[in-house]
Amino acid sequence: MDREPIFEAGRQSPDLPKLCRYLSERSPLPMVAVHGSTHIVSYLNPAFARLVGRDRSELIGFSFADAVPEGEANGCIALLDRVFHTGTHECLIEQEHRQSHPRTVYWSYAVWAILGEVEQPTGVMIQVTDATEIAHFRRQSMGMNEELLLSTIRQHELVEAAESLNAKLREAHDQLEERVAERTAELAAANDTLRNEIRIRETAESDRRDLLRRLGTAQEEERRRISRDLHDQMGQLVTALGLGLKALEDSTVDPSPYRPHLVRLRELNDQIGRESHKLAMELRPTALDDLGLQAALANYVEAWSEQSSIEIDFHSTGFDGQRLDSLIETSLYRVVTEALTNVLKHGKAHRVSVILQRTPNQAVALVEDDGIGFDSESMKSSDAHLGRLGLRGMQERLTLIGGTLTIESTPGNGTTIIARVSLSNG
Ligand SMILES: Nc1ncnc2c1ncn2[C@@H]1O[C@H](COP(=O)(O)OP(=O)(O)OP(=O)(O)O)[C@@H](O)[C@H]1O
Ligand SMILES: [Mg+2]
Repeated sequence: MDREPIFEAGRQSPDLPKLCRYLSERSPLPMVAVHGSTHIVSYLNPAFARLVGRDRSELIGFSFADAVPEGEANGCIALLDRVFHTGTHECLIEQEHRQSHPRTVYWSYAVWAILGEVEQPTGVMIQVTDATEIAHFRRQSMGMNEELLLSTIRQHELVEAAESLNAKLREAHDQLEERVAERTAELAAANDTLRNEIRIRETAESDRRDLLRRLGTAQEEERRRISRDLHDQMGQLVTALGLGLKALEDSTVDPSPYRPHLVRLRELNDQIGRESHKLAMELRPTALDDLGLQAALANYVEAWSEQSSIEIDFHSTGFDGQRLDSLIETSLYRVVTEALTNVLKHGKAHRVSVILQRTPNQAVALVEDDGIGFDSESMKSSDAHLGRLGLRGMQERLTLIGGTLTIESTPGNGTTIIARVSLSNG
């Protein structure tokens, strides 16, 4: 390796001005020397020429501001002024340079005074460091810091918003709870009122049923009394009258003009006797009280068939001579007789079946005819049943004893009436 010229052979220390020039010329750090208060460039090293992209000859002898136009704005010239006047050294870090460079660069300046013979500043030495990377990095980190700060603030805001939302939710929830509680209380009160009304209605309904039951019983009692009176008193009187007429007839000697009248009167008396007996039976058949439902219905059905000339089948099962509760017997008897009256009145039937059936749990009476039938469904939903007592009376009688009535009928297909009474309570 060649010896550098500043180290001359045989010398212990180098020539200082030469060394300075050597250091400055070889330094990778840009350096400029300016003199006078207007900062005229007196020296610049190659690194500075490269930094500003100019030749030495273009800058030497010109103001520093020509080499670095941003100096006025970024405080660099003011710094040179200060150092030139005070003789101290100062630094100016990361100054932005836009004008002279296509992309923004940042320079840091280290500035110190060049002292003359009387230790007075005659100029200023400027060393420039390209701080672009550091500045970019610093700005990036500042940007990131700012973003971080912003995001922290935003986070904080979000937390606050979430808390306020939570508070509102809690409030809404509390209000809802309050309203639910109020509504529940209202509903409970409405329920109580409803229950009271239901109770009142149930009592009214039970009173009505009780009244109907008593009416029904009273009616049956009355029928029974009239029937008995008819049978006993009327019967006795008619019998007595018959006997008297017979005696009168026997005592009249033939030929007598009164005899035909007496015969006619006796026949009339017999007819009155038969009619009153029939009436008594219709009012309250003694068989119902004495022999029970099965026997009473068997009698009735036979008489009905004879009178109407309609064939009738009567079947009874499960009774084995046992009696039912009197009210149940009377109700089923009246349902069957009313159903048979309807067959006669409306049915135009040729054949009728009456079935009585008893099981341990229920008693059933069924009347079926093959007549013209009717639309039982529309009868229920329309006003057609108003003013008609038969089917409604059957229904009411059965309701009073906890029974049910089923009417199966369509026009042209006959009619079936089924009465069911539960016997499970006794
Ligand atoms: N076996 C039947 N066949 C055909 N139609 C019937 C029969 N039973 C009832 N109906 C019809 O149902 C209607 C209602 O019968 P319900 O016994 O209630 O009244 P009603 O017999 O007309 O009058 P009431 O019985 O009051 O004297 C009858 O008018 C008739 O049209
Ligand atoms: Mg009727």
